[in-house]
Formats: sequence, C-alpha cells, structure tokens
Amino acid sequence: MNDNIQKLKDKKAQALLGGGEKRIAAQHAKKKLTARERVEYLLDEGSFEEIGMLVEHRTTDFGMDKEKYPGDGVVTGYGTINGRLVYIFAQDFTVFGGSLSETHAEKICKVMDMALKVGAPMVGLNDSGGARIQEGVRSLGGYADIFYRNVQSSGVIPQISAIMGPCAGGAVYSPAMTDFTMMVENTSYMFVTGPNVVKTVTNETVTAEELGGASTHSTKSGVAHTTSANDVECLEDLKRLLSYMPQNNAELPPHLPYELGEELRPNLDDIIPESSSKPYDMKDVIKEIIDEDSFFEIHKDFAENIVVGFARLGGRSIGIVANNPMFLAGVLDVNSSVKAARFTRFCDAFNIPLLVLEDVPGFLPGTDQEWNGIIVHGAKLLYALSEATVPKVTVITRKAYGGAYDVMNSKHIGADMNFAWPTAEIAVMGAKGASEIIFKKEIAEAEDHEAKLLEKEKEYAELFATPYEAAKRGFIDEVILPHNTRRKLIKAFAMLEGKVVDGPKRKHGNIPL
Ligand code: HXC
Repeated sequence: MNDNIQKLKDKKAQALLGGGEKRIAAQHAKKKLTARERVEYLLDEGSFEEIGMLVEHRTTDFGMDKEKYPGDGVVTGYGTINGRLVYIFAQDFTVFGGSLSETHAEKICKVMDMALKVGAPMVGLNDSGGARIQEGVRSLGGYADIFYRNVQSSGVIPQISAIMGPCAGGAVYSPAMTDFTMMVENTSYMFVTGPNVVKTVTNETVTAEELGGASTHSTKSGVAHTTSANDVECLEDLKRLLSYMPQNNAELPPHLPYELGEELRPNLDDIIPESSSKPYDMKDVIKEIIDEDSFFEIHKDFAENIVVGFARLGGRSIGIVANNPMFLAGVLDVNSSVKAARFTRFCDAFNIPLLVLEDVPGFLPGTDQEWNGIIVHGAKLLYALSEATVPKVTVITRKAYGGAYDVMNSKHIGADMNFAWPTAEIAVMGAKGASEIIFKKEIAEAEDHEAKLLEKEKEYAELFATPYEAAKRGFIDEVILPHNTRRKLIKAFAMLEGKVVDGPKRKHGNIPL
C-alpha cells in the first residue's frame, strides 16, 4: 500500500516537471510560461481540478516505450474563471514538443465531451508541433476526433484557442474551427507546414515570424482574432473575452447591474465633419455610446474599414459591427465582409444582441475585388445579418448607399430598431455619381456643364442625402440627435430583451461560403 502511495507521488512529481527541468528552463528562456503555469494563472486560485495526470502514451515504435512522461504532454481538467466553470487543456511543449499522440488526443476529447454535456466554455492553450510523428495514423485519427468535437460544440458552447508557442498541422486546424484564436506576439506561430517544408516545396525562403507569426495572422490572413504582448497578457485578454459570453447557447450573456441615468453624450454632436467626404473615426462614436472602457475589439488590425467587438451598454453584453470611414472610406470589401459576417454569427449563436453603426459608401469597386469574389463574400455578411435572430439595432450616422444600405442591418433584413442621425444620407449612390447618370442629357446640353452638374448635385442631395425619405416610409424608426444615441440604444435593447424568432424548419441554411 505504502509502495503504491510512493509511486503515485513520484508520478505526480514527474508530471509537474513535464519533459524535465532543462526543457522547462528552455521554455522560460523563451519568455514562455509552462503549461501548468498557464493553467494556474488563467483559472481562479485553487479552482483547477486535473483529469488524466497519469495517462501515458502506448507507442513502442522508434524506442518510444523508453521515453514516457505522465500526462503525455497535455494538462487537462476544469476550473473556474471569475467564478464561472470552464474546461481546459494546455499543451506542454517540454514533452515531445507538445505533439499530439493518440492518448494526448483522448485526454483532450474527454474534457471536450464534458464541456459539451455540461454546457460550459472549452479553452485550449495550444503549444504543439502537431501530430506526433512517431505515432503515424493514430495521431492523425486523434486530431480528427478533436476536429469532430469542435464541430459538434460549435454554436453550443464558446470555444476559445490561445496560441502560445509554435503550432503546426493539426495544432492550427483545431483552433481554426473554434470561435476565437488569440496569439502571443513573438513566441507563437501558426502554419500548416513550417518554413523548411515551404523551402522544399515552393523554394520560398521565409522566417517562421513572416510565415505565421502573430503580426502576419493579425494583419494579413485574419487567422488571429487578437494578439497580446506575452503569455500573461494573452491569458488576461482571454478572461476578459469570456466575460461577455454566456456559458452556452441556451443562456443569456451576463448582465451587470446598471441604473439608467441621464445618458446624454454631447460629444457625439460634433463628431461628423461638415464635408461628407471627410473621414472621422467610428471608434470615437463607439467610445461615447458604450459603458466606459467596455470595448473589447476583435480583429483590431485586420480589415480596419470595419470595426467589430464586444462591449457593454447599460450593463448588457452587445456585439458591435461598425463601418469605419477612417479606412478606405468605410467601404465593404472582401475582408471586411467576412470579418463582420463571422462575428455576427458568433453573437447570434450565443444570444448577444447586435448593434450596427453605419457609414458606408458601398462595396469597393474594381477587378481586385471582383476577381477575389466580393459578390460571394459580401453575400456572407448579408446572409449573416439576415439570419441573425438576436435583437438587432442600427444607427446610420452618415452614408448608407446602395447595396450596402440593405446589407448593413436594414429594416428589410430583419433589424428591429433603425435609427438615423440628421446627417444620414440614405440613397442609391452619392450625389455626384447619381447626378452624372440621371441628368446626363441636361448636363450635356447646358452651356456650363460644371455649373449644371453642381446644381443637379445639390438638388439630388437635398432630396435624397437625408434620412427623411427613409423615415417617411418607416425604413428608419426615428431620426435622433447624436447626443441622445446612448439613451435610445439602452432603451431599445431593454425593450427587445424578450425577442423570440422561430425561423422556418430546415436542417441548416447554406451560407455562401
Ligand atoms: C514528435 C515533435 C514534433 C512532432 C516537435 N517535436 N514536433 N515530436 N512529433 N510533430 C519534438 C522535437 O523532436 C523536439 O524534441 C521537441 O519537440 C522540440 O522541437 P524543436 O524542433 O526542437 O523546436 P522548435 O525549433 O521550437 O520548432 C518547433 C516546430 C518544429 C516548428 C513545431 O518542431 C516542427 O516543425 N515540428 C514538426 C511540425 C509538423 O510538421 N508536424 C506534423 C504536422 S501534420 P527533442 O527531443 O529534440 O527536444 C499534422 C496533421 C494533422 O499535424 C491533420 C491536419 C488537418
């Protein structure tokens, strides 16, 4: 009996050391925490309960039976974050580079199954070289078991992936199927195949950072939703991100206590520039509207012509989708459409009401966009916003032109409350372009073409570059003064809290992927 207790103690001590002191020192030298340190930091003190600490791999090939580590390179279990239950796995790079064996996969699947059954978020801290090469198809099978569970859990429980080291192969495909992928700057990488394979296959010379570092994935590919300076900041960001979400799709997101006050925001009255072609930063509008310091931006450095993120409004969690005239005049293009569509679908799946702030001159014209499929990508956003059944509210601050008027949460696609500021311009297109087309003959026949164009532009702008035509038809519920926006929105979302929509019976829709 005593022998068994001693053996258990020895095994546990080994497990705590992962792949050994030397490898832990190497991990620290790279300014990375170990898997256990990460779990400890992320979860509420003393809340972690480990599952499967003594699991070992079963491979005998390549002399692997002589090298075994309790836990097999992944720490799994459950605990709480700010008092709320989460399931977690953290890969241990000190054991075979955190690579995924059959047993490593079984451990992850076990907690994923529990998370889905119980209805609590699944958090993965990834630091892995992918499928364990020595295990061949068994490790590939292990990954497929995880991918399948990612899909079963999608839209039922939030799934968050933090990338905290070099991740390759399956170690990036599972995160890609989760809701959010967070990366640590300078120490994390994501690629399907690393720089060596790239060199062999395509003869390209590229560094790991260029190929799949945090800056690449947060600016070029959009694979990373957030980036953080180091492990600790990443884990802090993860805690904050979870705070906006419900535990599962059957619950509402947390609602912080809030007492309605005056809620007027006079700064909003001065935000829109005199000239309608001048930019302004929609983030300034967001800041004024929401509860103080409550914005958590997603995809901050990717497709900046649209801003998406979570915030609180009168204590309620909301998702914000907002055109930003500061970048590309706020147009909709391929990347901004896909970015906003994916965010919209997350909010809809998890009962997070949507606020759309609109200032959009239309879709970006040109061969680049057309050849890259703006038709089908723009349709994703149109589809996602049409499909969403959560409370949906729109504020048109300035331009709402063309198809983009329809797409950006118009009344016609199911928005519940649509407000416009007096500066709103709701029309098929801008005054100049429109006048050149519909008054072509008159302008051509005029003695002074320029003067005639200006006159017609003015005429058109007075009639259409306003919110009033739309308001007369009920497409806009109310024209509001900017300083009153926060108050109106708090009341609208409170009014919409009980919204229930039953769509037509079907297996699933067919979003234009
Ligand atoms: C077994 C692995 C491993 C793997 C790393 N190691 N990856 N062991 N299987 N996949 C081991 C190394 O042998 C080494 O062991 C230790 O982990 C640390 O690795 P290093 O190479 O020294 O570290 P580093 O220089 O930081 O490079 C990390 C890395 C690189 C970029 C992840 O190791 C790498 O490229 N690994 C292979 C990636 C890959 O191609 N994986 C298979 C993907 S296929 P020692 O004992 O020396 O410390 C896949 C299919 C899934 O995943 C299906 C997808 C749809």
